[in-house]
Amino acid sequence: MKNIVLIGFMGSGKTSCGRELAQRAGVEFLDTDDLIEKQEGCTISHIFESRGEACFREMETALVQSLVGKKVGVLSVGGGLPVTEGNGDILRQIGTVVYLKADVDVLVHRLQGDESRPLLAGGSLRERITGLMEKREQSYQKAAHVVLETGADSVAQVAEKLERLMEES
Ligand code: S3P
Repeated sequence: MKNIVLIGFMGSGKTSCGRELAQRAGVEFLDTDDLIEKQEGCTISHIFESRGEACFREMETALVQSLVGKKVGVLSVGGGLPVTEGNGDILRQIGTVVYLKADVDVLVHRLQGDESRPLLAGGSLRERITGLMEKREQSYQKAAHVVLETGADSVAQVAEKLERLMEES
């Protein structure tokens, strides 16, 4: 059974579905944001504020590089990680890359009031999401082995589909 790597926009369900999948499959679950927060001893927002986004992106790349060739189980990566040049190839070396694709309406609903994601702060949430999505879609598609349209599916339903994919891989 190969590792499963979940990519997609903020709020697409990578963490919640990934955690549920790992539990069902009895494997480990890792999340790049969690690992970076633990490693640095502070929040992602604090890293953005104190050291800037470029520094955070370097941490993301170093982290995924360190996972190549390892048994991970399920890995969920930050929404911007696959956009950094070269990271898509690294993720494909780690395991089967699944793009969890959610509609802008669903994302706006889920991310309303969220204060933990610095790239969504200020202005119109819908415009921020739409703008970033336009820039990122191509990178997500390029990195992914599989695209899973999540629609109105629940976490359990998505996890079930992912489990089938994991078993086949
Ligand atoms: C980011 C997504 C976040 C986190 C950081 C930047 C992005 O992770 O890595 O706030 O650029 O899309 P989630 O996708 O898990 O929210």
